[in-house]
Amino acid sequence: VLDSTLRVLAICGSLRKASYNRAVLNALVDLAPADFELTTFFLDAIPMFNEDDLDVNGYPAVVQSFRSDIAAADGIVIATPEYYHSVPGVLKNAIDWTGGKPSVFNDKPVAIVSAAPGLHGGLRAQYDLREVLQALGGLVLARPEVSVGSAERKFDPSGKLIDEGTRLALEAWLSAFSNWIARLQMQQRLEELR
Ligand SMILES: Cc1cc2nc3c(=O)[nH]c(=O)nc-3n(C[C@H](O)[C@H](O)[C@H](O)COP(=O)(O)O)c2cc1C
Repeated sequence: VLDSTLRVLAICGSLRKASYNRAVLNALVDLAPADFELTTFFLDAIPMFNEDDLDVNGYPAVVQSFRSDIAAADGIVIATPEYYHSVPGVLKNAIDWTGGKPSVFNDKPVAIVSAAPGLHGGLRAQYDLREVLQALGGLVLARPEVSVGSAERKFDPSGKLIDEGTRLALEAWLSAFSNWIARLQMQQRLEELR
């Protein structure tokens, strides 16, 4: 019997307790279909990347588990804020730890979402993040693009998603991601048979 459960690691690009991006990830846990197993990773404990330390000490334990969680997942979801038109340092720093020959992101299906109080919802950070992940061999879902703009109106003060349009957009996006993962896994099996 094929195990059809998709194990998806969700990474939050914000450390803020009341983060809208964290709220998006919480909403995804509720919206996800039954065959989606979503686990969230918070970056609070990831140290600053320093190549000297890496050469001497190898990967710190928390980084090692970040790396192995990514490697073991069927797909990665990243919810990120936009800081000064790009990817927050916290997230970029964590991604800098994922390199190697190959990177743990290599051939990994990834889907990006963003949220911000601004109208466009952090879309510029998504484009920069897409480039970074592609540099690591990540296979980033092309569309639909979902950014949650005017985020303070989309969630209640407890962080619960209260906007129907956003809910529908996130559902469509998750479903496209699920298809994207299935398609890539199918292709991988075909390559193994060759
Ligand atoms: C250092 C910094 C830079 C920011 N730059 C942008 C920006 O370029 N574009 C934008 O839409 N919002 C920007 N914001 C506002 C964030 O979108 C807002 O703080 C958002 O709530 C952060 O995401 P979070 O709620 O998940 O923590 C910035 C906020 C900070 C703290």
